[in-house]
Amino acid sequence: MTLVADPTLHPTTPVLDLIGVTKRYGGTTAIREVSLTVHPGEVVVLLGPSGAGKSTIFRCVSGLVSTDAGQVRAFGRDLNTLSRRELDLQRRAIGLIFQQFNLTGRMNALGNVLAGRLGHVATWRVLLRAFPQSDRQIALAALDRVGLIDKAYQRADSLSGGQQQRVAIARVLAQQSRLILADEPVASLDPAAAENVLSVLREVAHERGIAVLCSLHQTDLARRFADRIVALRAGVVVMNRPAHTVQGPEIDTIYRAA
Ligand SMILES: Nc1ncnc2c1ncn2[C@@H]1O[C@H](COP(=O)(O)OP(=O)(O)OP(=O)(O)O)[C@@H](O)[C@H]1O
Ligand SMILES: [Mg+2]
Repeated sequence: MTLVADPTLHPTTPVLDLIGVTKRYGGTTAIREVSLTVHPGEVVVLLGPSGAGKSTIFRCVSGLVSTDAGQVRAFGRDLNTLSRRELDLQRRAIGLIFQQFNLTGRMNALGNVLAGRLGHVATWRVLLRAFPQSDRQIALAALDRVGLIDKAYQRADSLSGGQQQRVAIARVLAQQSRLILADEPVASLDPAAAENVLSVLREVAHERGIAVLCSLHQTDLARRFADRIVALRAGVVVMNRPAHTVQGPEIDTIYRAA
């Protein structure tokens, strides 16, 4: 059954919950008392000028850096209370999409999507590259979902940037992630490809109840593709509202004042 989540109603536990999170690098406070929540099927877009702390939030959620204060709760569990093994399992449930299409260029699209199944299959199969037929079917279905079934056997480095980002989305679908973290996923794309990638991301989030936290620099795209906009300035949340209530000039001010 496909979980259809109405992003305006939240009867469910949040997938991601940051409560008063502070992270310092030496004397620099990168984020200060940041709180935000992402529910199943909700697309939350982080906006804010360079240095505002967007990537720091992603690093805190993926467990790459430890926090100095506050709580990061993913899937209802406080990251600080998890054992190393539990943290590893938690990470597998989180799909990552980056600005630089982090695919293996010499592998074809299908191979890159199958990499999303790594956490699901036995190590010996991975070593022999003997993925079960069921995993290949999951990977092909994911490629089909992002409109790239005809590119399954094409090398990743011969695909356009937009196509590579859609392969990255297919990989997190194959991974069956319940949370996608996308740090500037469309920063290297032209406007048409950016829109295409964000609309696929939004559709799969809504269809499958996947929580998405995505940073962008384009305020117009944020208003069109986000369910909720969280704006940061100098590490502090200065706006946290449903996207449809946010007027263009309001967010432009956040950038101008930086
Ligand atoms: N490893 C680090 N060591 C020291 N300071 C850091 C480190 N990483 C980030 N910072 C500082 O933390 C602040 C927030 O950086 P961050 O990378 O989170 O910003 P950002 O919003 O992602 O910016 P951009 O839009 O340019 O990607 C900045 O002042 C940055 O210089
Ligand atoms: Mg960044």
